[in-house]
Amino acid sequence: MCGIVGYTGPKEAYPVIIKGLKRLEYRGYDSAGIALLDGSLKVYKKKGRVSDLEDEVVGKDLHGHTGIGHTRWATHGEPSDANAHPHRSSTGKLAMIHNGIIENYAQLKKDLINKGYQFKSDTDTEVLLNFIEEIKENNHCGLEEAVRVALKRVTGAYVILLIDAEEPDTIIAARKGSPLVIGIGKGEHFLGSDASPMLEYTKEVVYVNDYELAIVRPDELILKNLGNEKITPYVQKLDIELAAIEKSGYDHFMLKEIFEQPQTIFDCLRGRLDTLGGTITMSGIQQYADQIMKANRIVMIACGTSWHAGLVAEYIFEELCRINVEVEYASEFRYRNPVIQPGDVIIAISQSGETADTLVAIENAKAKGAIILGVVNVVGSSIARASHGGAYTHAGPEIGVASTKAFTAQLAVLTMIALKIAHDKGTIDQDRYMRLLAELAEVPSKVEKVLKTKDKIRDLAEKYKDARDFLYLGRGFNFPVALEGALKLKEISYIHAEGYPAAEMKHGPIALVDENLPVVVVATKDTYHHKVVSNIQEIKARKGKVIALITEGDTATAALCDDVIIVPEADEILAPMISVVPLQLLAYYTGVAKGYDVDKPRNLAKSVTVE
Ligand code: M6R
Repeated sequence: MCGIVGYTGPKEAYPVIIKGLKRLEYRGYDSAGIALLDGSLKVYKKKGRVSDLEDEVVGKDLHGHTGIGHTRWATHGEPSDANAHPHRSSTGKLAMIHNGIIENYAQLKKDLINKGYQFKSDTDTEVLLNFIEEIKENNHCGLEEAVRVALKRVTGAYVILLIDAEEPDTIIAARKGSPLVIGIGKGEHFLGSDASPMLEYTKEVVYVNDYELAIVRPDELILKNLGNEKITPYVQKLDIELAAIEKSGYDHFMLKEIFEQPQTIFDCLRGRLDTLGGTITMSGIQQYADQIMKANRIVMIACGTSWHAGLVAEYIFEELCRINVEVEYASEFRYRNPVIQPGDVIIAISQSGETADTLVAIENAKAKGAIILGVVNVVGSSIARASHGGAYTHAGPEIGVASTKAFTAQLAVLTMIALKIAHDKGTIDQDRYMRLLAELAEVPSKVEKVLKTKDKIRDLAEKYKDARDFLYLGRGFNFPVALEGALKLKEISYIHAEGYPAAEMKHGPIALVDENLPVVVVATKDTYHHKVVSNIQEIKARKGKVIALITEGDTATAALCDDVIIVPEADEILAPMISVVPLQLLAYYTGVAKGYDVDKPRNLAKSVTVE
């Protein structure tokens, strides 16, 4: 949460930083601000979007070849001009931006107030900044030294970027628990929460690790640990093109990402799935295949949509591999004292690879001896690096706050892992294995077919957009799809929606059913189909409105429902990758019909890097 950008080099910093902030706005959009070094230090900041900051600075002096910028997701202190970053230190010489939470800020603030410091904001960031300045003044040291000393006394998570009016061309950066990428240009350096602000300038990047501090100048990048020892930066090549982070003619990133799914699922399968040879090749899994096969249990750890992918995987792994699977919310798992036994395998699922709860949960499990496999989208992210092995989902940058293509790519990866293990372990017969491999390869074209029903789904969104509540029902492999459909609708349209296993409806939610309640039922042809049809009848008997996802040709179920969305037939193991797509579209078009900014839903941020 919060996006940070920095630049130092021969260019004017302002345009580089503003463009970078727009790309990082998915990380938070409560306020935006920029600090520029040009002999003196200038700070401009504004509540609202980056575009509000642009309006604010019209006519102002925006010169400077070194600068830092921030787009905020508020934690300490309401969204306001005063709480916007960058913050200025008491003397006015330092400016700092921060992504994360300083947990011991209250004590630090008390100490500073006792020493006469005054604060202009409610943020933990301003406290850390003045703490750094106090050390700098008292120790008569440079900014780098002051930051290092301060960070040893700080608890919490942070990425910080600082500039000092007395140290031209220099940005000091440090991280613990939040992401920081440094792009290396010719005589210039770029800093960002991810690589998107630097894509058109360089493909060479360094992912800074926890407890590392960077001294960044146009011609120089020095990386150190908090013990002041130099570290050789590990330079990596970026594999992302600019087009991947642009809307490419779509109204919203969310719509673009929904429509990218045939390609992203294909990319995820490419080079891994060999339908003729009957093999699945995943090098990051291969070396742990033996441990997975012998695992007493697999624990899936994730949050939000990624947690729903874990739930689908639970059904798939238990069915195909006959291994006990548990699916845990990372935020709960990290604070329990979970029993980790020898032979337990943890699969961490995350689009961003930066979700704080998931990261800490796997670090805890790792410390207890578990093998950690990451199913992660963002290459080089913290969770990917903290895992022993795993597989990238190759879905490309996901910018819409509501996760869509990451989910289907996660399912594709998890299905391949399950198929591979089942085959190696002998818990699937060869015919079924070969048939599933062939059908998996057909998923992209089936998703393509679903996308062609978009106009119908847009009409349904228009028809039901004024409903106060929605219920989503599904069973078996499609129960998590119901949860995911409800989450998407909540996030994007702010309509209250609940997902339930269809059979659980009778244990409570049926009390909600009346002529005003739309119930979205995933009723595709699978093992549970006839039971789900009974649930539809129960809803209709109580005058509920049923919008059902049905398999093509299923006229009998269609006749029972108010509205239907037709999806191609698929094996039930693979069906969630297809049935979730109309639910993504339904949420998208409902949000649009209600006039909301679906790419930046209120109160949310793309990457939850705080608890
Ligand atoms: O990056 P992650 O997959 O770890 O993120 C997990 C959740 O924060 C994320 O899925 C969130 O629920 C999305 N807003 C859902 O659309």
